[in-house]
Amino acid sequence: MRKPIIAGNWKMHKTRDEALQFIFSVNVKVPNKTYVETVVCPPAPILRDLVKRQGDHLRIGAQTMHEESEGAFTGEVSAALLENIGVDYTIIGHSERREHFNETDQSVNKKIHQALRYEIIPIVCVGESLEIREQNETDAYVSAQVKKALHNLSETQVKNLVIAYEPIWAIGTGKTATPEQAEETIKTIRRVITTLYSPAVGDAIRILYGGSVKPGNIDDLMAQPDIDGALVGGASLNAQDFLTLVEAAKNAS
Ligand code: 13P
Repeated sequence: MRKPIIAGNWKMHKTRDEALQFIFSVNVKVPNKTYVETVVCPPAPILRDLVKRQGDHLRIGAQTMHEESEGAFTGEVSAALLENIGVDYTIIGHSERREHFNETDQSVNKKIHQALRYEIIPIVCVGESLEIREQNETDAYVSAQVKKALHNLSETQVKNLVIAYEPIWAIGTGKTATPEQAEETIKTIRRVITTLYSPAVGDAIRILYGGSVKPGNIDDLMAQPDIDGALVGGASLNAQDFLTLVEAAKNAS
């Protein structure tokens, strides 16, 4: 039985005041974390503000982190600092980071190792472009991304991380993958992990869907047997929509 997760990726949205307003309206309404994991990933400068007000059931995640422990990396944030301020999750390898900030399969792999060293749960993003989908190369492309991301990770480490399948063509476009398309690729990812590790790991790992998830499509996505939740951009900015998504995930479990 895999516990569902709804993670909100705020990207470069909200000021501190807006974030606090959001947190005060959701932190007491978030369902019990025994049934669903609810995560908000704000911009780095306000992580600590939200951790302090997360309440009993909401958890806070970063949107990225650096793979080195410390050093001359101007503007970057270490896993040690994230752990120190009480952050429990971090997104790694989001397609926007891969596209605009030179994140590669190799740096994604290093970041996962580093996050796990500090007991931060990585939410590892993979997903294909429209061009790759139209060439019918999605399975091969996404499988290769997963294998490179998980390089040299142990069975126990892999069980503890979360994968998010986010087709690039569905991000912020209003074009959601159909539940069947999302299910098919997520099933492929689970099969890859089963082959790399064991049926037990393939069965245990949580795999989310991301890309234009909204209150109107969450039920159909959650009804798919291999989809364990969602990584949500736009709809996570609105407190009511976000809570609706979390309730839907809880009810589907
Ligand atoms: P949207 O939900 O806005 O399409 O964003 C998806 C995403 O990139 C989450 O990480």
